[in-house]
Amino acid sequence: MYLKKYTFAISTTALLLANLSLLPDRASAQNIPSLKDTFKKDFGIGTALNTAQIEERDPQMTAFIVRQFNMATPENIMKSALIHPKWDTYNFEMADKLVEFGKKHNIKINGHTLIWHSQLPPFIRGIKSADSIRTFFNDHIKTVAGRYDGKVLSWDVVNEALNEDGTMRKSVFLQYLGDDFVTEAFRLAQQAAPKTELYYNDYNNEQPKKRAGCIELVKKIKAAGVRIDGVGIQGHWHVGKVPLNDIEESILQYAALGVKVMFTELDIEVLPRNFQGADVGQRMTANEQSNPYTAGLPDSVQQQLAADYEALFKLFLKHKDKVTRVTFWGVNDADSWLNNWPIRGRTSYPLLFDRKNQPKPAFEKVIALKK
Ligand code: XIL
Repeated sequence: MYLKKYTFAISTTALLLANLSLLPDRASAQNIPSLKDTFKKDFGIGTALNTAQIEERDPQMTAFIVRQFNMATPENIMKSALIHPKWDTYNFEMADKLVEFGKKHNIKINGHTLIWHSQLPPFIRGIKSADSIRTFFNDHIKTVAGRYDGKVLSWDVVNEALNEDGTMRKSVFLQYLGDDFVTEAFRLAQQAAPKTELYYNDYNNEQPKKRAGCIELVKKIKAAGVRIDGVGIQGHWHVGKVPLNDIEESILQYAALGVKVMFTELDIEVLPRNFQGADVGQRMTANEQSNPYTAGLPDSVQQQLAADYEALFKLFLKHKDKVTRVTFWGVNDADSWLNNWPIRGRTSYPLLFDRKNQPKPAFEKVIALKK
């Protein structure tokens, strides 16, 4: 009896303490300025959403997302492996939930992504004929883009078709369908989804050689009489090394083609890396130096991160007539894929909100640009 009472008392106190430590953070998260409102007249502000967020498992998280963002891209659930797991089976459950989420909360959805060499359904590996790849390609685009026409704002029709030198990446699509597969993907998407904006999306396509390849792609699509509405620059950059001049040049050159320019997967890595970009197939081996900030981000890095975000948003604002959307790849640092790529289990700090959705100095700097 005594023991029971004692345990009860302890657990209630623990619960109370836990709640108290959560409360101030959680409550104040709704009092900080809103990114989407701050940049309302300039460009859309988006985030990547994961399954838990789409399913609204945490109401406080939902409220936070709705207050900060007016656009969203599914981090994984619309990729072909997930939405088209078997040759003749589609799984629309999560994508339908995402569309509902957007409707309910006034958040515009960018579909991501129809044609990509990664996160493909496992059955693709067994296909060894051009005919079968063509059938998959046609059916997939028609079915998925068709289902969500009028329900999503836009699609990343093709993702990451280019190499760093601007040539075409050797993907299963290039191998079996040839150089024209990008134009063909846009042609099919245009037919299936006449009301949906159609984008090409890539990383490092602000770099001169890859940018030149990307410009060729856009011109080729247009020359074929096919519609392309925008180019997405993913924007997976590194602290202290954000290529501002290349980014500005890219905004100007892409806009000159008559397409919208978007920053679609923005984050700034603070952890050590021996390569640039975001090739998901590329990995690094862990060593004693590869996860240096498990106890917190040093102030010097925090300030550099803030300065980088400030400079980026200054540039976005300078070209707000050309930049239509800025989407972060995750809501807060805890959600970021950079905790697990290119090394699993690290502690990264690439976004504007910390692990409790508290604004970081980078957030303050970005907001201050509009004051
Ligand atoms: C990433 C997701 O964030 C991870 O959860 C997943 O394991 C791998 O893919 N470029 C893209 C995104 O276009 O789809 C990738 O997202 C990150 C790089």
